[in-house]
Amino acid sequence: NGTTRVAVIAGDGIGPEVISSGVAVMRAAVDPSVGLEFEEFPWGSEYYLEHGRMMPEDAIETLSGFDEIYLGAVGWPTVPDHVSLWGLLLPIRRRFDQYINLRPTRLLRGVEGPLRAADAGALDITVVRENTEGEYSDSGGRIYKGTPHEIAVQESIFTRRGVERVVRYAYELATEKSGRLVGATKSNGISITMPFFDEIFREIGEEYPRVEATLMHADALAARLVLNPERFDVVVGSNLFGDLLSEITAAISGAIGIAPSANLNPEGTYPSLFEPIHGSAPDIAGQGIANPAGAIWAASLLLEHAGHAEAGTRVLDALEGALADGARTRDLGGESSTEEVTQAVLGRLKDAQGA
Ligand code: NAD
Ligand code: IPM
Repeated sequence: NGTTRVAVIAGDGIGPEVISSGVAVMRAAVDPSVGLEFEEFPWGSEYYLEHGRMMPEDAIETLSGFDEIYLGAVGWPTVPDHVSLWGLLLPIRRRFDQYINLRPTRLLRGVEGPLRAADAGALDITVVRENTEGEYSDSGGRIYKGTPHEIAVQESIFTRRGVERVVRYAYELATEKSGRLVGATKSNGISITMPFFDEIFREIGEEYPRVEATLMHADALAARLVLNPERFDVVVGSNLFGDLLSEITAAISGAIGIAPSANLNPEGTYPSLFEPIHGSAPDIAGQGIANPAGAIWAASLLLEHAGHAEAGTRVLDALEGALADGARTRDLGGESSTEEVTQAVLGRLKDAQGA
């Protein structure tokens, strides 16, 4: 009941190009009488150059009035990356306690992954990334400059609560899926935080005797994801490892332009945020050739989360159908523009709805 209110932050570079595809697809997929309302916010690097901040001071308060957030990408060469990201995306993830970053990847029909031997269906991996702490910390940093021996020190923060909740989420997800879970560690080289992560991973595992749970060093895991992707199902990792590993799973499923990212506040106390995993791609921005698949898949996850599961499934089916029909951008070896892929997805949706 009631309308789902979605805040749209298209952001920088190809962000607005792919977000307009996703919004068009959501509008087409959900019956207008059910109600999906979009409000756009022109925040990002251009806003920064004009106002000296990436988003207004009361942005978090404004966003808290929405059910979901749909974001393109943040970051542009005119603003240092740590300023733009710590001025918009990272504070949103933290302030809204979006501690789960869910990054599913599959080899969709019609997409040839770089691992040509893999069959469609053989690759189906979800990376569960911790999203609010770990190596991405904004406290405790120090830098000593001005001598030939300059030093930069930055602390990682792993809290028991933070590790427990993401690990438990991953065990639950593995239970629903194949029952296999891998935890990404690096306790051979990182001697405090990673053994702590491992200890909690094992402890929580005792509550899930039916899940086949393994800890793997993140470097070896990175190689195995490329060599034997079919062996993996759910992978859980810290903020940094989850980021890197999910970029690998995205790439082996065809291209990073395909993969979505759901930044979830599972309790629903705050809005969740849905985005493609890719960035603003300054090298191709403004050319109309960005792959909208990641943004469209993210839209499908948003719909599912907002209680429109059936519409979400229709969107993903339409995307897969369009790709299989040959509506593929250059990063996938095709020649289609962003607009052509979007139209193909809209056409598929219309056919499905008319059927
Ligand atoms: P990127 O993801 O923007 O681009 C990496 C490469 O992938 C580029 O060659 C790009 O052309 C290509 N690519 C990415 N998305 C694509 C798409 N949809 N279709 C076709 N090709 C695509 O990563 P980057 O170059 O490291 O970062 C650029 C900027 O984006 C930086 O400012 C970075 O901090 C930011 N960034 C933001 C987010 C986010 O907002 N969530 C994520 C990653 C990077
Ligand atoms: C992502 C991005 C961000 C992250 C950057 C841009 C800060 O890579 O959304 O994965 O590392 O979280």
